[in-house]
Amino acid sequence: MEKLIEKIEKGSMPTHDEIVQLLALQGESALLLHRAAHRVKRKILGNKVFLRGLVEFSNVCRCDCLYCGIRKSNEKVARYTLSDAEILENARFAIDHGYGAVVLQSGERNDENFVKRVAEIVSGIKKISADVGITLSCGEETPDTYRLWRESGAERYLLRIETSDAALFQQIHDEKANYQRRRRSLDDLREAGFTVGSGVMIGLPGQTLDQLATDLEFFRDQDLDMIGMGPFLAHGDTPLGKRYPDTEEIKQKRLLLALNMIAVTRLMLRDVNIAAATSLQAISPADGRQRGILAGANVIMPNLGEAAKKRNYRLYDNKPDIDENAKNARLELEKSLQKIGEIIAYRESGTPLHYLKRQ
Ligand code: 5AD
Repeated sequence: MEKLIEKIEKGSMPTHDEIVQLLALQGESALLLHRAAHRVKRKILGNKVFLRGLVEFSNVCRCDCLYCGIRKSNEKVARYTLSDAEILENARFAIDHGYGAVVLQSGERNDENFVKRVAEIVSGIKKISADVGITLSCGEETPDTYRLWRESGAERYLLRIETSDAALFQQIHDEKANYQRRRRSLDDLREAGFTVGSGVMIGLPGQTLDQLATDLEFFRDQDLDMIGMGPFLAHGDTPLGKRYPDTEEIKQKRLLLALNMIAVTRLMLRDVNIAAATSLQAISPADGRQRGILAGANVIMPNLGEAAKKRNYRLYDNKPDIDENAKNARLELEKSLQKIGEIIAYRESGTPLHYLKRQ
């Protein structure tokens, strides 16, 4: 196994079977894998970590994904939408505190009001700072909408494929979701000129290592610039969460598998941005994101919203509810990164090297 990791660290592309073997690693050999991926991150991207301030600006959603806590049929959720002023205030906070980019995330809506409003908010943020990067994460939209949002100033878009396996995709979504349409949306985003990010959930009920290996090959073949992926976590008010409740043992397994996924992604794709997802932190509150960085990730997305609102943006149970606006939380994050030899790249928008090379 050491030989295989060494070979791939040097830049050789693993075969499908080798990817499966790497994803299965545990204990000491998993640590060897993570360390190799972290060395590649250091070598190619340096000891920097990019911060993106996450604004979860609305939990109103027209979708009914079987895993997601803010799915349309979940009547227990108090729906909210932040006002323009609140969103701009969050963005201003991020800019003032040196975050290089903001991520605006919401449930999916396609009505004209929503589409127009997002465009206006994006241009509003660009008026505060032309340099701050803006990433949108608002689901599947029409090519026209993507173009409008790109023209209004957003440079990046995150749209997870959730799983690249068409059958599994259908199993975890309601009948209105469509795998081919999701893939087309990724193409539409690319055509609209976005830096495109995608990703999957790790440890879904029934998901195999073979499928996860195919996910990594999908990232490579789609030539993605950014990868965001994290462990699946049950939400008690969703069909999937009710049927497959989490145990501590399952969660720990998924955490390890997610770190292995991050590491193999870094070894295969080298120069892309990889986020250490919030769901890592949900399983391991003390050090989940740091462990993501140590396995090859280079982006952290602290949540900028106030604690009260965040409780209504609960995609899965036990979502961390730290007040990242508090000076303490940021200094803690900075300190914990310093301990592992990483520094926050303040005021850098952090365009993925992979994207710059493609241009
Ligand atoms: N567990 C983990 N991740 C989830 N997401 C949604 N619900 C869950 C869950 N139960 C992720 C999806 C989505 C992103 C915004 O949050 O991958 O794309």
